[in-house]
Amino acid sequence: MNKEINSGTYSVLFKQKGFDYLSDHLSDINYSKIFIHVDNNTKKNCLDLFLNKINLEKYELIESKDGEENKNIYSCLKLWEIISDKNGDRNSLIINLGGGVVSDMGGFIASTYKRGINYINIPTTLLSMVDASVGGKTGIDFGILKNQIGTFYDPQMVIIDPDFLKTLQKNQISSGYAEILKHSIIYDLKTFKLLIKNDKTTHDINTIYDSVSTKNSIVLIDKKEKKERKSLNYGHTLGHAIESYFLNTKKKLLHGEAIAIGIVLASFISNKLFDFSFEHVISIKKHIDLIYSKIEINENEIDSIIDLLIHDKKNSHGKINFVLLENIAKPIYDVQVKTNLIKESFKYYLS
Ligand SMILES: NC(=O)c1ccc[n+]([C@@H]2O[C@H](COP(=O)([O-])OP(=O)(O)OC[C@H]3O[C@@H](n4cnc5c(N)ncnc54)[C@H](O)[C@@H]3O)[C@@H](O)[C@H]2O)c1
Ligand SMILES: [Zn+2]
Repeated sequence: MNKEINSGTYSVLFKQKGFDYLSDHLSDINYSKIFIHVDNNTKKNCLDLFLNKINLEKYELIESKDGEENKNIYSCLKLWEIISDKNGDRNSLIINLGGGVVSDMGGFIASTYKRGINYINIPTTLLSMVDASVGGKTGIDFGILKNQIGTFYDPQMVIIDPDFLKTLQKNQISSGYAEILKHSIIYDLKTFKLLIKNDKTTHDINTIYDSVSTKNSIVLIDKKEKKERKSLNYGHTLGHAIESYFLNTKKKLLHGEAIAIGIVLASFISNKLFDFSFEHVISIKKHIDLIYSKIEINENEIDSIIDLLIHDKKNSHGKINFVLLENIAKPIYDVQVKTNLIKESFKYYLS
């Protein structure tokens, strides 16, 4: 894969081309200190692989505990403390080697330390390759509210190498695949048709490339999410609420697992409000049912999930704003949906 994606201020590069580019960047800039930010899993599974791909003589390792429950201010305090103790200065670099938790939190740390230092994302999960590492959003959770605190702050580059996926668990691959499917639904009919006919995830390098290109082109039009970027929240209004709700329960869901449910719900609602073809709704549900295990959600839980929606940061003036579809690749933003229809959509998902 020799192609690269231009994200305005930075590039997304693939495989060895990315590591060559990184080597050149490091000799050009001559950073005072390089911090490699890992979590316990990427330290074990990805660090040696990364160091084999690039010649890095001196670096400091900074480690977070893995998992969404650690994407918070307490983890940030520890990271800021270590960077400060090790005399990180304005000319330091953070390399985030990990999934979306590592890149969201590492990007946030970088954007605030000394009013902003450089960082680079090397995503090691499918989800962070196609979504979290690209687009310049950084952030942490606040209580049960996802990504409540954060910044827009671009990395110097993103390097995508599917070699890292070899050690990733299967459910994490499915989780990332939800974003690939989402990108195709909102923007890329050709890819959608290819994906939907399979009974399993498609995540080869070309599919990853297409998915990143889709996200990137949307971000380039509307970085600050005033309009078009909202389409990336397809399936996320309810998906986030589902994810937040189950975060502290035994049914804890991965991000993409919650989004997959959100995609089915939003597709159903799109049919009711905008005549989005029911054929598409059926094929999306069928495809998702084949890939993800069904999550039982009872009526009380549905009520609690709907309550949580009011806290979603995308809601303005207390209204619940949905991204819906007129057709594949034809999203509509800022639609308000009545509670009864939301409940009906849950029934459809559970059917
Ligand atoms: N900034 C954005 O635009 C954006 C977009 C989408 C999602 N996100 C965020 O991304 C996060 C989810 O990211 P994620 O799904 O990558 O989760 P994650 O970072 O929690 O990684 C999932 C798990 O896989 C482990 N892991 C990572 N790479 C591995 C590898 N190569 N081999 C073995 N294990 C590995 C991690 O340690 C972790 O336990 C959420 O917090 C979400 O809010 C951000
Ligand atoms: Zn997402």
